[in-house]
Amino acid sequence: MATTPKISARNVDVFYGAKKAIDQVSIDIDEGIVTAFIGPSGCGKSTFLRTLNRMNDTIASCRVEGSIKLDGEDIYDGRMDVVQLRARVGMVFQKPNPFPKSIFENVAYGARIHGLAAGKSEMDEIVEKALRRAGLWDEVKDRLTDAGTALSGGQQQRLCIARAIAVSPEVILMDEPCSALDPIATARIEELIDELKERYAIVIVTHSMQQAARVSQRTAFFHLGVMVEYGDTDAIFTNPREERTKDYITGRYG
Ligand SMILES: Nc1ncnc2c1ncn2[C@@H]1O[C@H](COP(=O)(O)OP(=O)(O)OP(=O)(O)O)[C@@H](O)[C@H]1O
Ligand SMILES: [Mg+2]
Repeated sequence: MATTPKISARNVDVFYGAKKAIDQVSIDIDEGIVTAFIGPSGCGKSTFLRTLNRMNDTIASCRVEGSIKLDGEDIYDGRMDVVQLRARVGMVFQKPNPFPKSIFENVAYGARIHGLAAGKSEMDEIVEKALRRAGLWDEVKDRLTDAGTALSGGQQQRLCIARAIAVSPEVILMDEPCSALDPIATARIEELIDELKERYAIVIVTHSMQQAARVSQRTAFFHLGVMVEYGDTDAIFTNPREERTKDYITGRYG
């Protein structure tokens, strides 16, 4: 039985000025699973990821063509509220980027902007729930007023995940979320991604083939702005259809 995809992109082109960085990408992204984007540096993984919540709007030279729908709704439609969109489609970056605020305020920030809490006790609840889901609560519950930047790198990344979760997103985009972390912190984030996928559609960009194989159920392989192959992660890694995919996963380039 076909389920309706959470995100449906069709014939997406992305330009930086006259340069085409993404060429005719079409992909459906489902809820309840992790989708990995892999491919050599500069192939357009981050560029395409950013189109999914219009983060590229912030880059003046960047232009997107084609169609991207979230629950059937065109996110590039002029009537789309971009602030609302980015609450529904949250983003976690390569380098943990907590705001220069307390741990509590980092998580409360979005909820406050979106008016999600009626009072202090509701806000406390939202913050605790998000920190628990991000697997950080026990480590920070006695120091919520400390600066977010005073946490370790791995904790900061979980704080950023808690910040994204606090506004009840539907999709979480992660651009190499572990590349600045040590193996132990990486393992914690991977466990977390595995738990979070029950509730959200998750898209992760990674340079680690092992990570893609461990955390994702579907993988898209990008090369020179084109999505070469997309399918079940197991199939992509054990039996790729395309020669270019095979070359990449066997380490022939990238
Ligand atoms: N802000 C920008 N302005 C102009 N060109 C850009 C910009 N961002 C990316 N590009 C170009 O678009 C192409 C794709 O870049 P992108 O960052 O999406 O690749 P990537 O697959 O994420 O690479 P990496 O694995 O190194 O992060 C590259 O040629 C890059 O130089
Ligand atoms: Mg990138």
